[in-house]
Amino acid sequence: MPSGLTTGLAATGPAWDVVPPALASGRVLIIDDNKAILAVLTRLLQHAGLTAIQTVSDAAEAVAAYQEFHPDLVLLDLHMPGLSGFEVLERLQARSQEVVKVPVVMLTGDQDQRNRTRALAMGASDFLNKPFDSMEVLLRVRARLETRSLELRLAEHNQELEARVASRTRELEESQLEMLQRLAGAAELRDDETGQHTQRVGAMAGRLALAAGLPPERADLIARAAPLHDIGKIGVPDAILRKPGKLTPEEFAEMRTHAAVGARILSGGHSELMQLAERIAHYHHERWDGAGYPCRLSGEAIPLEARIVAVVDFFDALTHERPYRGAVPVDRTLAMIAEVSGAHFDPAIARAFIQMIRSGGQPTCEEAA
Ligand SMILES: [Fe+2]
Repeated sequence: MPSGLTTGLAATGPAWDVVPPALASGRVLIIDDNKAILAVLTRLLQHAGLTAIQTVSDAAEAVAAYQEFHPDLVLLDLHMPGLSGFEVLERLQARSQEVVKVPVVMLTGDQDQRNRTRALAMGASDFLNKPFDSMEVLLRVRARLETRSLELRLAEHNQELEARVASRTRELEESQLEMLQRLAGAAELRDDETGQHTQRVGAMAGRLALAAGLPPERADLIARAAPLHDIGKIGVPDAILRKPGKLTPEEFAEMRTHAAVGARILSGGHSELMQLAERIAHYHHERWDGAGYPCRLSGEAIPLEARIVAVVDFFDALTHERPYRGAVPVDRTLAMIAEVSGAHFDPAIARAFIQMIRSGGQPTCEEAA
């Protein structure tokens, strides 16, 4: 926020004999159609030690001067020809984008209480009565500059605190994510000795998200959340997870619980990343035609990131060896995806994936490992 004031102010004391150094740099904009008043106030403030003073006698130029000069305090005449002080005040308030509002002190000989109330309601901070009492002018100017300096200091401090909190929150989220990724990795080692499936799915899901037209920041989040998609398998017994043959209906039902269990493990996260991971874990076995599990969602009711991971998970699982079967060739797997596109998979996502793999988007070394 532009200001002539430093924010390390510690200016106190009843007199204005010497302008505290921190206030001497305060920038004062005086708007009054009476040039004699402008000259008197300027001399008075300069005599008190203020160095940055700008005057405007034409109210129509007030807003431009305000935006250019970045004042810490505005002294504004209430009654001017053309634009009134009220109109100028309204325009200044409308253009002020600062977190800490610049104080506006109205200059007036008008004792009408209604005008004073109106000015206060519009955001004026104070009044100075014409004819001016020099000491009152200086004391009020000093008080407003002191208040502004403290408010700026507070705003700066708040900004620092917010940045610190945001940074600590990010660190906590990162460590929470890392812990969950380790847990997912531990779960994965039970049915994939290399423990690389989840990482490959993450990397490929990120690339597919980009290929499907998602913004890079979203694709990056998906790449980081997708490795947690099967974290719920930690609750599936080894006898089922590592069974070499076909699962019985009961065993398959047990296996299917991993989606809801995973969502439960990841639930309650406040970050976008954790909420995304929860949705992927929950819905990555839903099918486009509604025949999937655990919620039997269909079409676009299935979160897009889960539709992305569904295709990638299928591709990676089939093209890599498992304890109970060999790897299926890439071309054959892509043909299978095309066959069930529109039933099992979102057709647009399946098409983008097939195109990505066929058009030179072969799995990277990391993904093919
Ligand atoms: Fe799964």
